[in-house]
Amino acid sequence: MKRNKPLQQVYELYTPEDFKVWDALFNRQMRYLHQYGAALYLDAVRRIGFNAAAIPDFGKTTERLYRATGWQLTVVPELVPQDDFFTLLSQRIFPATCWLRTMEELDYLEEPDMFHDVFGHVPLLMDDAYAGFMEGIGKLALQWLNMPHAIALLGRIYWFTIEFGLIKERGDPRIFGAGIVSSLSETLNSKSALVTKEDFDLDKMMQTEYRTDILQDKYFIMESTEQLYKSLSGIEKALYAATEYVGI
Ligand SMILES: [Fe+2]
Repeated sequence: MKRNKPLQQVYELYTPEDFKVWDALFNRQMRYLHQYGAALYLDAVRRIGFNAAAIPDFGKTTERLYRATGWQLTVVPELVPQDDFFTLLSQRIFPATCWLRTMEELDYLEEPDMFHDVFGHVPLLMDDAYAGFMEGIGKLALQWLNMPHAIALLGRIYWFTIEFGLIKERGDPRIFGAGIVSSLSETLNSKSALVTKEDFDLDKMMQTEYRTDILQDKYFIMESTEQLYKSLSGIEKALYAATEYVGI
């Protein structure tokens, strides 16, 4: 599909259809997230000011984010190359698309749009520990950028926490990762009796392969975003050990 992928957000260019898409996605996800979502995420959505009626304005969102944790948004047309992505994270800058899927694509999209990037990823950057973890992942990745094996392991950590992590709240695993909160099918899948859920475990995450083209069959549950932040030193140690082992 031929798509317009802007390099900057010009708010006036959003069409009534775009607003309808945002509204439909926002309301549909929120119905489930109020039931299954992490309070931490829901509170962050409120604090950052997202709602069904308005497509987020990158300028205003960055203002709130910057005041809270020093993070900023930058517009990218599509997925950015790995090096750029990690460099931006290390500078507390989150790259996000500003275009939206069409109404016909509500349920399936080949590449991340603004609903995934902004609704999914951005609210939790209001949380100090989460914000520190994201920066830390960027910094670690830059140290190992020339070692694909290490980057793959880091990619698994990112996948099982930032994209598809669950978080325990009052003893219950709640939806947390951007890949789940921004997707109806992943939201429902994560509640299915057929999936396995394991406690947060760096070694296990690094040993677990994942697929990007199917619904997940395994999720990891973290205790808190502080646990995530504190795991950075363990990740660093594991990367040293793994790259020594393969003799790089
Ligand atoms: Fe993502």
